[in-house]
Amino acid sequence: LRKLLVDTDPGGDDAIALLWLQSLVRQGLAELVAVTTAQGNVNGSRTFTSACQLLQLGGCAGVEVARAVADPPGILPDARHIHGADGMGDLSATLPASRRDWQTAPSADDTIIDALTQSPGEITVVGLAPLSNLAAAEAKRPGILKLAKEVVLMLGAFERQGNVTPLAEFNAAYDPQAAQSVLESGANLVVLPLDVTQELIFRRQTAREMRSRAPESAIAVFVDRLCEFMTETALRYRETAGIEGFLVHDAVTVAYLFYPETLKFRRAEVRIETEGRYSAGYTFIDRRHGAKLQANAFVGCEVNRQQLLAILRDDLQQLIA
Ligand code: BDR
Ligand code: CA
Repeated sequence: LRKLLVDTDPGGDDAIALLWLQSLVRQGLAELVAVTTAQGNVNGSRTFTSACQLLQLGGCAGVEVARAVADPPGILPDARHIHGADGMGDLSATLPASRRDWQTAPSADDTIIDALTQSPGEITVVGLAPLSNLAAAEAKRPGILKLAKEVVLMLGAFERQGNVTPLAEFNAAYDPQAAQSVLESGANLVVLPLDVTQELIFRRQTAREMRSRAPESAIAVFVDRLCEFMTETALRYRETAGIEGFLVHDAVTVAYLFYPETLKFRRAEVRIETEGRYSAGYTFIDRRHGAKLQANAFVGCEVNRQQLLAILRDDLQQLIA
């Protein structure tokens, strides 16, 4: 049983990752210790509410949800042009309402610190968002991230261009200082970059089939409508080479945790540029002189996309059933 603390900024792909995880909870393979919400795809109060709604939808309504730490310095606009004004493909009104109050929710950094101090070495931190919350926890309690079993991040781009600037991936570019502090924390890091996540197109056809098999299921209906919305923006921004579907970047972390056979890794030293007119958020690996001695992370470099997407479909199907 994997104990997980998930840091997320829902986000269409965060939503798929959170539903996949809840399927694994239902199957007895995962425990959600807490969900911390970050500012990123949309603002902090919106990501908080979406996380609460997605937990309600997926059957984990009892899990603690924490609010984002104060806004990161931010050079970037949010990503509502991709994920909708509410981050949920403009579908939040169709999701179960959440009665939780953002104002009085615990702060993400405290939730991270409490969870990791209570169970040192046992909890895996899963980062699906800019790293402001994790960095804030590390700043408040230096060394805290080393108490995580692993810190698994959707972050960066190495062999490919970025998705938000030519050089940078969104989670890296939104708060580069925070990413730097996590990369330098000495924690057991697993980094899953665009190099692998851009292979993962969740197809419109898959969502349609799920819904037609279970037309009454609120989850199936939501996934289908979300996919419809996200497909439109993905096509507009040419993210999927014309294929109908959308990139489920964040879901790759779940694959690593529960189906690692779908991925290949290399051990590497990952660094990030925190400044620069064009380069803030640029992540890179030093490959000179076989520089593996300094490695700070396992970095995903290949994915069996068909296998991964088939498993995702089957697990979502189990949650729906
Ligand atoms: C990452 O950025 C966000 O927009 C997605 O949710 C994902 O976490 C991909 O670059
Ligand atoms: Ca995300």
